[in-house]
Amino acid sequence: MNTQGLPKSMKALVLKHTSEPPTVQNVETPQPTLGSAVVRVLRVKVISYSREVMNGTRNYQFPMPLIPGFSAIGRVAAVGADATKIKPGDLVHMDTTIRSRDNPSDVFLAGVADGYTAGSKRLMKDVWRNWTCAEYCRAPLENLAVLDERRLLGSPGEGGLGYKIDDLSFISTLLVPYGGLKDIELQAGQTVIVAPATGPFGGAAVLVALAMGARVIAMGRNASSLAKLKSTVPTPELVETVQITGDVKTETEALAKFGPADAFFDIGPPEAYQSSHLKSAILSLRHGAKISLMGGYREDVAIPHVVIMHKNMQLRGKWMYERSDIPDLIKLVEHGILKIGEKAGSHTYGSFPLEQWKEAWDLAAEHTGLGDQVLMQP
Ligand SMILES: NC(=O)c1ccc[n+]([C@@H]2O[C@H](COP(=O)([O-])OP(=O)(O)OC[C@H]3O[C@@H](n4cnc5c(N)ncnc54)[C@H](OP(=O)(O)O)[C@@H]3O)[C@@H](O)[C@H]2O)c1
Repeated sequence: MNTQGLPKSMKALVLKHTSEPPTVQNVETPQPTLGSAVVRVLRVKVISYSREVMNGTRNYQFPMPLIPGFSAIGRVAAVGADATKIKPGDLVHMDTTIRSRDNPSDVFLAGVADGYTAGSKRLMKDVWRNWTCAEYCRAPLENLAVLDERRLLGSPGEGGLGYKIDDLSFISTLLVPYGGLKDIELQAGQTVIVAPATGPFGGAAVLVALAMGARVIAMGRNASSLAKLKSTVPTPELVETVQITGDVKTETEALAKFGPADAFFDIGPPEAYQSSHLKSAILSLRHGAKISLMGGYREDVAIPHVVIMHKNMQLRGKWMYERSDIPDLIKLVEHGILKIGEKAGSHTYGSFPLEQWKEAWDLAAEHTGLGDQVLMQP
């Protein structure tokens, strides 16, 4: 044992190079420093394209060797001397988005990508290189959000929501679209086009928009995935579906049936950068509409500039979410407004130990529907 009862060593998944599979190794347990806490990692949310990130296919940049990881749920094991709220024993959500303290525009995704500035790359390489695919993880205090364990995990008879720890992992998926929808100030009663809506983050956007009081037009290429999405959401009467056919005229005619939309939330994967939905959704918006671009396109995207200009539209990019969005989203969950878990149609397909990283990453690529989850349990 070391300071604050932490073991001297721990198991961690270590990626030495994207051309080699990661291995589970015994490494030194991180110690808390000023401004940080060490958290016993309970569940790591595996994103659907983890495999492509870690084997280099997606060309994300990060320093190696790396202990990879994503957002997670954990229990605080030890805290730095300056922590005034977070204490050992707290159940926390661990946010993967790390920002420089003296320059928040130096931002990167811990365990995944080192960002786009010299500062973000240095901060990941020198300070926050190791993340949640490990028994313990040192995280910045501000990346930890204390969860109301009694409310979330307590039994309904005692005023709890009866969730399981697995269910809480869905918070990190919901946070991504919340960041974009909050950024464009989606209002209750408005109509938002979500496209594509059939992926994990796209589906989560539908749930978040509904919880924010909006009506949703969900777009996707696959009619049966759209039908499944509509049958899974808590208020199907507030969700319309339009297929992405590749033909802008057909899509805009289908969208027009629901009247001009107030907002468009885009979350396409890199391969969708030429998808017709980008144009048809923008052409279906009202004057003064707002557009949130969260898609992960690596190529330039063509937009109907003249319509955006004449209709005074606002086009905003969003990477992840603001720190203040995290407690706000958690409140929606803790108050039962935004449901998670099996009752909300979410299903956990597996919760794997570190040694079974391959099974976890393969399974996550397979199960990408609304609420589908694959977790790691270090
Ligand atoms: N801005 C941010 O902060 C942020 C954060 C997280 C993720 N992202 C980006 O968001 C993307 C989407 O994430 P995700 O997890 O929801 O989904 P994903 O697993 O990356 O992609 C699957 C979704 O994309 C659709 N799709 C795939 N190829 C397409 C194409 N050629 N044309 C149109 N649609 C296509 C799929 O629809 P079908 O059902 O038709 O196959 C499905 O809806 C990620 O790839 C990532 O780049 C951005």
